[in-house]
Amino acid sequence: MLAVAILAAGKGTRMVSSLPKVLHKLSGKTLLERVLESCQNLNPNKIFIINGHKADEVEKSLQNLKLNINIQFVLQEPQNGTGHAIQVLSKELTNFKGKLLVLNGDVPLIKSTTLKKLVEVHDLNNADASLITTKKNNPYGYGRVFTKKNNLIEKIIEEKDCNPEESLNNLINSGIYCFNWESLYKNLDKLKSNNIQKEIYLTDAISMVDKAYSLEYENDEELNGINNRVHLAKCEKIIQKQIIQKHMLNGVTFINPETCTISEDCEIGMDVLIESNSHIRGKSVISSNCIIGPNTFIQDTNIKSDCKIINSTIFNSKIMSNITIGPFSHIRPGSKISSNAKVGNFVEIKNSFIDESVKVSHLSYIGDTSIGKSTNVGAGTITANFDGFKKHKTSIGEGCSIGANTVLVAPVNLDNSVTTGAGSVINKDVEKNSLAISRAKQNNIKNWPKK
Ligand code: UD1
Ligand code: CA
Repeated sequence: MLAVAILAAGKGTRMVSSLPKVLHKLSGKTLLERVLESCQNLNPNKIFIINGHKADEVEKSLQNLKLNINIQFVLQEPQNGTGHAIQVLSKELTNFKGKLLVLNGDVPLIKSTTLKKLVEVHDLNNADASLITTKKNNPYGYGRVFTKKNNLIEKIIEEKDCNPEESLNNLINSGIYCFNWESLYKNLDKLKSNNIQKEIYLTDAISMVDKAYSLEYENDEELNGINNRVHLAKCEKIIQKQIIQKHMLNGVTFINPETCTISEDCEIGMDVLIESNSHIRGKSVISSNCIIGPNTFIQDTNIKSDCKIINSTIFNSKIMSNITIGPFSHIRPGSKISSNAKVGNFVEIKNSFIDESVKVSHLSYIGDTSIGKSTNVGAGTITANFDGFKKHKTSIGEGCSIGANTVLVAPVNLDNSVTTGAGSVINKDVEKNSLAISRAKQNNIKNWPKK
């Protein structure tokens, strides 16, 4: 039997945040989600999440996740330390026989392969406890691990309890342990809070069991704990480097990768070129041969092949193939731009359908609108979709020429091949093949005296 305990009850004081620490995000996923994902592949019989500080918020954060595993929340109130957390959990495990994997909820980069190895080696050694350790250049803040021969652990001393000499030891406790539950259980009552922080430390249990092994890992990146936002940024950088490297090896060019961020769930096709300062978030899909950026932000958007998106932002939309967008376009949620269209500078499009080969090249707002094939929308065209109370729809047919500075007061329908005169305010429907013009006639007054 294998159970997992994820310690997630702490406040995370050093984050200086109203959000519980484990709900802070790295590349779009909470720390807790990441730790949960890392242990799913081990197929444990049960995962316990020890929560306490803002327990409701922590529980709620997992509501929409698709997890194929049995999770039980265990409330630790008050939070008297990591050892206390396991004391609280022990009431749920009275008849349990097997291994308990304990994971700190703030060590989010741990990989499931590493956890698998920990469990395997633990079994092989027939150990009471096994702990992943690593040597850090800067061990500040971590518990220091003191070993005797054969990698058996003598004791762990927390940073704050170390004397100057002890703090020179740079072998640190990762906060990832595998315990033989019975060995741990019989020592739980002996854990005391006689330390600087007056907390009950789980680390003290290590010196109480007979055989506790240190499994020293070279890759200390995976074992980074997060106590403050400097640590958070450090982990974000590590994740970004991994994600971007994966895409590079799959045929994506990054001109200046350090300035870009890509979410883990993005798919990017072959020969896509990503220019500086570009950020692709959520579940976006970018197909082959696109050029993205510089200075572009794309969220939850599907972009087909051969598009060029320059200096623009796009949210929750569908962009078909061979489209140029930008510079300085803003495509808002619910828009679909069809193939061979062009959306130019200072154009905002919201919740609209733009058919093939449409051009909206300059300075327009198109909202709640559908535009038919090959229509040209002149510079400065605005759909006035809001009457102060409600939003209304505009429909423009195929092959229309919308004159510069047309205002289309919704609801309004323009049939196919309609032309509107520049500067017109159109608030009545227009039949096909018609010219709609609504502006005062120009009057030229001769010999106008300059005052
Ligand atoms: C802990 C370890 C330290 C290790 C480091 C690795 C102890 C005593 N120290 O220190 O040896 O090097 O992690 O990152 O375990 N938590 C609870 N209930 C509590 C207190 C904490 O669930 O009462 C949870 C926190 O939410 C957090 C995790 O346990 O996810 C670790 O707590 P934290 O206070 O960050 O411990 P560290 O000081 O980092
Ligand atoms: Ca920590």
